[in-house]
Amino acid sequence: MSAASGDRWTITHVRHLALSCSAFDECLDYYAGPWGLERLGDSDEQQAVLRATGPEHHVLELHRSDRNSIDHLSLGLADDRAVDAAAAELGSAGVTLLSEPAEVDRPGSGYGFRIADPEGRIVELSACTEAVPAGPAELTPVKIAHVVLNTADIESLCAWWCNVLGFRVSDWSERQMVFLRCNSDHHSIAFNRAEWASLNHVAYEVPSLDAFMSSIGRLKRAGHDVGWGPGRHGPGNNAFGYFMDPAGTVPEVTAEVQQIDEATWVPRTWPRTPELSDRWGTAGPPSAEMRQFMAGTPDA
Ligand SMILES: [Fe+2]
Repeated sequence: MSAASGDRWTITHVRHLALSCSAFDECLDYYAGPWGLERLGDSDEQQAVLRATGPEHHVLELHRSDRNSIDHLSLGLADDRAVDAAAAELGSAGVTLLSEPAEVDRPGSGYGFRIADPEGRIVELSACTEAVPAGPAELTPVKIAHVVLNTADIESLCAWWCNVLGFRVSDWSERQMVFLRCNSDHHSIAFNRAEWASLNHVAYEVPSLDAFMSSIGRLKRAGHDVGWGPGRHGPGNNAFGYFMDPAGTVPEVTAEVQQIDEATWVPRTWPRTPELSDRWGTAGPPSAEMRQFMAGTPDA
């Protein structure tokens, strides 16, 4: 069935992440300021929509709230037919459809529907969202590189995202983390073994190592020092710099994500040693405070 075994529909990429945010105004200043996103016009006092420089309508939604939580995660499908095919197959496979395929009455529009994953995360699958003019793409984020989710049941969740949604395992980090891809990027989604379901962090990709260091510098000059990094990970081989936003959510700036050849890639399990976790030897381990922010608060 589904994406895993046929070509009828496949998830193409992560479109955007929508976050309920306990520090809405401060986070808006942060992401539309030194983080380098651009606030779009269809924002209001309760909800802000921010774009990167890539073709996606927006990569981040902030919803004013009294707590931090994932509101929903939006994934791309190729076209309307893929949306209809995915909804039919997922429905008949027993997946909870929270809405049927329809015009999306939200910023960016498009045609899509929503499901819940086994831990209750709301996942939107959509196609044909609105185009927006491309921004200057030298030093600021182009797109969401990946979203890392904490889970209390990593084996079951990994199996579901692979068997039902068609993701493929790129690598494991011991049995602590698993990295899943839906295109040539080493990972677009990763799961981290944890005590509860929550957001671990969300990574934004910049177009070069120069942009990566410039982003860290831009944030530092604005009073936001990097919390963990700069460094280069083993799995995915990407440069990393982790921050803490004003709400206590962890965004990452990343560059040079490893590209996977689908025909030849063989997943590996990476030992969690300093040489493999921090290949440049520049970052060291994350602090206790950073680990606490990455644990997040349990999803609503
Ligand atoms: Fe990451």
